[in-house]
Amino acid sequence: MPSESLNRDITRAWAYHNATKHSEWSIRATPHYLDWANQPLPMKIYTTLEPIVLPRDADQTGIAALSAISARIPDNGERIPSLGDLARFFFFSAGITKKKTFPGGEMYFRAASCTGALYEIELYLVCGDLPGVAAGVYHFSPGDFALRLLRRGDYRGVVGIQAPVVVVCTGTYWRNAWKYRARTYRHFGWDNGTILANMLAMTSALELPAAVCCNFVDSDVNRLLDLDTDREVAFSLVTIGQTDAPLPQAPPEMPKLDLPTVPLSESEVDYPEMRAMHEASSLEGAGIWGTGVHTRPPKSDIKVVAGFSPRSVYSDTIERVIIRRGSSRKFERKPITLEQLQTILSASTQGIPADFPPLNDLYLIVNAVDGLDAGAYSYDHQTARLDCLKRGDFRREARYLGLGQDLPGNAAADVFFLADLHSILERFGNRGYRAVQLEAGILGGKMYLASYAQRLGATGLTFFDDDVTAFFSPHAKDRSAIFLVAIGIGARPKNG
Ligand SMILES: Cc1cc2nc3c(=O)[nH]c(=O)nc-3n(C[C@H](O)[C@H](O)[C@H](O)COP(=O)(O)O)c2cc1C
Repeated sequence: MPSESLNRDITRAWAYHNATKHSEWSIRATPHYLDWANQPLPMKIYTTLEPIVLPRDADQTGIAALSAISARIPDNGERIPSLGDLARFFFFSAGITKKKTFPGGEMYFRAASCTGALYEIELYLVCGDLPGVAAGVYHFSPGDFALRLLRRGDYRGVVGIQAPVVVVCTGTYWRNAWKYRARTYRHFGWDNGTILANMLAMTSALELPAAVCCNFVDSDVNRLLDLDTDREVAFSLVTIGQTDAPLPQAPPEMPKLDLPTVPLSESEVDYPEMRAMHEASSLEGAGIWGTGVHTRPPKSDIKVVAGFSPRSVYSDTIERVIIRRGSSRKFERKPITLEQLQTILSASTQGIPADFPPLNDLYLIVNAVDGLDAGAYSYDHQTARLDCLKRGDFRREARYLGLGQDLPGNAAADVFFLADLHSILERFGNRGYRAVQLEAGILGGKMYLASYAQRLGATGLTFFDDDVTAFFSPHAKDRSAIFLVAIGIGARPKNG
């Protein structure tokens, strides 16, 4: 079947979605034990390429985190990122920000949260000549904070986007599937999204226009990076900067690279459902948004809620907040204020510059928010309004819905992302499934940052799919559960 008709066969996205739902029954019926001896490496390492080390001494932008999360930079004439800009947006979205030592070894944590700290998303740079960087295709390596040149020359024409910089985000199946099996394809969207939340905040602090693209020709981008697509695939793109210079023709040849990399682990387990989902949502030529390939960075249906202005009391810079961020491992059963909650919701939903419209709807379980009754709510991001669906203490239900973990039961509030998958898939085909997971990750990532900007804690969580829909029904009856973020007062570790 040609790819575009495959994209339109939405029974495939439904098959994947339904097969990867969590329920009490599915967790009991298919227990999974981690093979620690075969744990994959958390990063891609090219063994034969010289590192081009990025500068680590850039100044802080001085931009308050809440402003960086919520602001958007207008396209105001030419804006070409410099080497220092690249270093900053790569470091604060995917760089190593923390090291923890355990009895069994060391663990490196990154700027953005990631399911299981498995870091399956890789970043690549495709650029024309920039100040301090020659035109080329590069891999970003967080381990030694360096770029590695894969192809020399200006290949932006292959991607088809007229921007000085395109960041390609890929997902590596096995690195995450080692723990999460076939559900990993959803994780690609979430874990890519949290990285993009940080990247968009940093580009906004650096006054660089940026936009997220889901509409690209998969095979062209995968071939450009010379990916082994049974293992690693391009998932999303980000354009950064602005130029009016015409898009140069890509070099005529794009030979295979066959560059050696360190094997992720001794052996890999294949989960064909994820690859099938990827194939079903791949685009060849004409794309879902009409013209297929972009010639300019996309403009999206952005709405800006009037009157949102972050309070100056929370003035920590975006860099400080990203460095401070870490997923809460425990919440105190203490309330946050309504203003703090509104700030999180409002700052996170000011619009994502993307080639897809808003797709997720927000629902909340409020456990302990001063000034708001405990209960279940829906949130309208257009009007910044919370509507009570039912009042009551739902801590027990929140704990259950979050896979029986204590975190959502103890949190002050749990934000559930639900989406009308029927109309999304109808409109965008299977590609809409990628976009809805990615958007949830971006919104969730922004909520992390908006929480830590106010010295609160947050964590992403997984959930029992159909029970979430049932809990918020009848209001949510046609919606599917996509993601969950818990927010509250983070408990300090006893020995820390
Ligand atoms: C999409 C997503 C889902 C997550 N789900 C859970 C979860 O169910 N339980 C949990 O304890 N932590 C969860 N986490 C937190 C990760 O374990 C955490 O991000 C990772 O260990 C990296 O640590 P850090 O966020 O402190 O940098 C989730 C994070 C994300 C981004």
